Order: sequence, then structure tokens, then C-alpha cells
Amino acid sequence: MAQFNLPANSKIQPGKTFKADGGNKTKKLKVYRFDPEAGQNPSLDTYEIDLDQCGPMVLDALIKIKNEIDPTLTFRRSCREGVCGSCAMNIDGTNTLACTKYIHEIKGDIKVYPLPHMPVVKDLVPDLKGIYKQYESIQPWLKTNEPAPSRERLQTPEERAKLDGLWECILCFCCSTACPSYWWNGDRYLGPAVLLQAYRWIADSRDTATGERLQQLEDPFKLYRCHTIMNCTKTCPKGLNPAKAIGEIKKLQMARRL
Ligand code: SF4
Ligand code: SF4
Ligand code: FES
Repeated sequence: MAQFNLPANSKIQPGKTFKADGGNKTKKLKVYRFDPEAGQNPSLDTYEIDLDQCGPMVLDALIKIKNEIDPTLTFRRSCREGVCGSCAMNIDGTNTLACTKYIHEIKGDIKVYPLPHMPVVKDLVPDLKGIYKQYESIQPWLKTNEPAPSRERLQTPEERAKLDGLWECILCFCCSTACPSYWWNGDRYLGPAVLLQAYRWIADSRDTATGERLQQLEDPFKLYRCHTIMNCTKTCPKGLNPAKAIGEIKKLQMARRL
């Protein structure tokens, strides 16, 4: 449900400052901190780092802070090359992946927050339980009533090409957490990431549950809260177009009604 005022215990307070030990090329990171067990409001801590002693990406800076300055800083990361989706966060006002975002692209201080409009587990770690439940609801696996072949299920090159722009999604949820419709109706609207995934299975020639999948999405909230605002497509760090995938589902829904 939409909520227009931040609860008093969500207001961000000024935090601690950690100065760099030296170096000619320093940069400040202002990082959102929240520990639910501390019973305090979130704060914005400032870490100054020596860029000559740091890798080129924002994730390198966060790892440097955690390893050398403040081991309590908490964030997710795994692959460090833009394929696992776990380091998604809001950097310099945009949802993106910390491991593929260059420090040198950011003018001034680097502001780092968790993905917006999600409950925060700790610091930069959003609670993704709800959105993964929504992902589970679209049954993201091959459904077919055809007998299993002795080898793989074949597709023509044209059928396979229909999955391009869909299979590359890494479920980072940068798009869903940038979508105003998802902010206001995230309990019932599936949002761009989950709808792109839904279309990935609808578009798959090997899947025979297309009608069932479309029927499941035929709902005023699950699908039709997309108002083509396009924040999702603008922010996707993999260059995908979830808004287009949603449009394709809507077209198929129209065609079913005719
Ligand atoms: S195009 Fe649809 S899914 Fe994408 S940001 Fe806008 S409302 Fe959200
Ligand atoms: S569509 Fe892009 S932004 Fe959205 S979850 Fe997939 S990779 Fe992330
Ligand atoms: S660490 Fe895997 S996408 Fe950034």
C-alpha cells in the first residue's frame, strides 16, 4: 500500500566519518548503514579511500572498506563480473551493479544506498523474499505435455532467437525497484523483472503451457499496473527491455480475447 511519509525510525541520520590514511587521489563514499539489531535510525557513513590503492569498480571500493576500514559493512556480491545479480544497489542515484560500475564515472562523492522501496535486512542488503515468491508464482521452468526426447528438445534458429533479450536477465531486480508502479503496488503487481521472466517462458517454443501462463497473468494488478513509464528499461544494467516484454504479454492477451 502506498505510504507517503517516512516513519520516524526510517529517517537517515548523519553517521561516522573514516578518513583515508594518505594518498594523492582520494574519493569519498557515503554509504547507507542500517542494523536492525541496534535499535537506531539508519545513518550515512562516510569513507575516504585512496584510489591509487583500489580497483576501478564501486564494488572494489566497498570490498576495500570492508577489508581495511570497517568490517561491519554488509553487502551482497559473488561473481564480480555482472552475471550473478547479487551486488545490485543504488549508486549515484541509479539502480545498478556495483561490480560493473566504474568509480571514475561518478563525479563528486559516491552515494551508495540499497535498492529502493524494499525492506532492508542490513546496510546494503535488501530483503528479496517477497519478490522471489512472485518469481516462483510464474513457474519459471519448462512446462510441456510432450514426451521427453532421447536427446535435447530442438528449436529452429528463429525460435531460439525469440529468447534473446530475455535469457540474459540475471534477476538483479534493479528494474523492479526503479518502477513507480512496483513501489506503490509491489504486493500485487509482479513488476518488470518477474514479468520479463514470465515472457521468457511464454516465448519459448518448447513450452506448451502458454495459454495457462497467460491466463495466470490476466489480472488487473499482476500485469496491468505497468503504465509504460520505462524506468525499468532505462536502469537495466544488462541493457534489456522489460517494458517491451510486458508489452508483448499485453499484445498476446489482446489476441486471446479476439
Ligand atoms: S514500463 Fe512498466 S514496468 Fe517499466 S518502469 Fe514503467 S510501469 Fe514499471
Ligand atoms: S531485466 Fe535487467 S534490471 Fe531487471 S532483473 Fe533482469 S537484468 Fe536486472
Ligand atoms: S557481484 Fe555478481 S553481478 Fe555484481
